[in-house]
Amino acid sequence: MKLLIVGAAGQVGQALMRVCADLHIDHIGLGHEQLDIRQPESIVAVLQREKPDYVVNAAAVSDVTLAQAEAAECYAINRDGVANLARACSAQGVALLHLSTDYVFDGQLGLPYTEEHKPNPQNVYGNSKYEGEEALRELCERHIILRSSWVFGPAGNNFFSRTLQRVRNGELVRAANDQISCPTYTEHLATVSIAILQQLDCQSEPPLWGTYHYCDRGPTTRYDFARTIATTATQRSELPEAEVVPVESAELNERAQTARHSVLSTDKLFFTFGIRQRGWRQGVKRAVEYAANQQSSHDLNGSKVLHGNG
Ligand SMILES: NC(=O)c1ccc[n+]([C@@H]2O[C@H](COP(=O)([O-])OP(=O)(O)OC[C@H]3O[C@@H](n4cnc5c(N)ncnc54)[C@H](OP(=O)(O)O)[C@@H]3O)[C@@H](O)[C@H]2O)c1
Repeated sequence: MKLLIVGAAGQVGQALMRVCADLHIDHIGLGHEQLDIRQPESIVAVLQREKPDYVVNAAAVSDVTLAQAEAAECYAINRDGVANLARACSAQGVALLHLSTDYVFDGQLGLPYTEEHKPNPQNVYGNSKYEGEEALRELCERHIILRSSWVFGPAGNNFFSRTLQRVRNGELVRAANDQISCPTYTEHLATVSIAILQQLDCQSEPPLWGTYHYCDRGPTTRYDFARTIATTATQRSELPEAEVVPVESAELNERAQTARHSVLSTDKLFFTFGIRQRGWRQGVKRAVEYAANQQSSHDLNGSKVLHGNG
């Protein structure tokens, strides 16, 4: 099978590229500059040129605060861009795996959300993602929508990388202890996405298209997540103990309304594809290790420049 990864320079996009390379899967990844999903003609041209069997869409406006501030841009990408991809894939006979989010739910249920629960997004990001899902369902029959939550990895500007940076700088970390979900390591989400496509590729009947949930194992609070990042990083790099303080969401002055309890049930994924959850704490260890190695090679390159100048 041949995959086309769209949004390949994002944190999940990069993980998808690594997993495909590790598994020797025929793939091509295009970043925003190479393929803008707001341009329908460009999508058709790429599909005709590359002839993939599957497109994986990791392109999005994923910053919840930015989405709230720039709603029109957010809808142009998270809803209309997905519609463009769906239309082009359907016309070219290509299946589409699209990533979505727990933010489609309102976080009021107090129980894990299944794929049967009715979405009720509470902010621009969540609504744009939900409308993107709806467009995909309408326009491209051969699709998978894979919702996930609190995705983290060493690349990009996310809760994990911001927390890690504060720990390295010796700054106080304040994190909400009233938001509960399951952190999900980018590499785990990428591996699951590819595993689904591999199974679809060798099964023709019954069609397994539709919406699924995947998040790593173990609901937690933002506070516990931050504390785990801090402890893992201080142990790994012998940094001074970081101070992580639990706060109420209201104290954080977040611009966009955030879901309070958005744990996703992964039962459907398990019973359909036999895919189990991996632990997010293991993901934190890997991401900290990866970031520390990147930091040391960065430091090494920096010192080489200094030697050269000296
Ligand atoms: N992050 C989370 O916590 C989380 C949780 C659940 C689900 N998800 C979903 O997972 C998917 C991947 O998210 P992520 O965390 O990897 O986000 P990310 O790191 O922000 O990556 C998104 C990528 O999309 C690109 N992009 C933006 N507009 C584009 C356009 N018009 N055409 C093509 N590419 C465009 C961005 O490029 P530029 O930066 O150059 O614009 C960026 O490289 C998204 O669908 C997101 O909704 C994320």
